[in-house]
Amino acid sequence: MLPAYISSPGAVLSRGKMPIDLGKNFFDGRRILGRGKTFEGLALGTLLGFIAGVIVELYSGLYGSYFNIFLLSFGGLFGDICNSFLKRRLGIEQGKKLPVLDQLNLVFGSWFLCFVFSRDWFLESFNWYIAITVLVMTPLLHRAANIAAYKLRLKDVPW
Ligand code: CTP
Ligand code: MG
Repeated sequence: MLPAYISSPGAVLSRGKMPIDLGKNFFDGRRILGRGKTFEGLALGTLLGFIAGVIVELYSGLYGSYFNIFLLSFGGLFGDICNSFLKRRLGIEQGKKLPVLDQLNLVFGSWFLCFVFSRDWFLESFNWYIAITVLVMTPLLHRAANIAAYKLRLKDVPW
């Protein structure tokens, strides 16, 4: 999961300005994604997650290919974008909480892309035991990382 665990906080580091939704509203009159999802964040996050995965790959061969590393890294932020889309449709303002999904969107996004584009590797690599471990550990890591980002003034809120 490392590429996805790096790409999400990596996006925050960008302090990006160019919104992926280009500032546009959806049919419901709310922003499509909101100003918290930027191209800079997507690019920097994906790159940092990818680099982290490549370093691990050189020592372990765990990911099998650079494409799989990309799927995990980009997929984490894909999940984050889907989460913001859902939050806006539910009327939750940018920066406000959506419990559980705020923590697990990166898991679902990265697994989804791996399942669609690299199914054999995904099913070989993630058994039930690993999957459940990831689902339990991720919210804990997420909480710790967000408190740290808040204290470092990288984020305005500790979630
Ligand atoms: N960020 C970004 N680009 C992304 C993802 C995140 O620039 N693709 C940056 C934004 O500055 C964002 C911050 O990281 O405000 C925190 O990310 P997150 O908590 O995921 O977004 P929110 O601002 O809380 O927005 P939302 O309510 O849509 O989740
Ligand atoms: Mg947030």
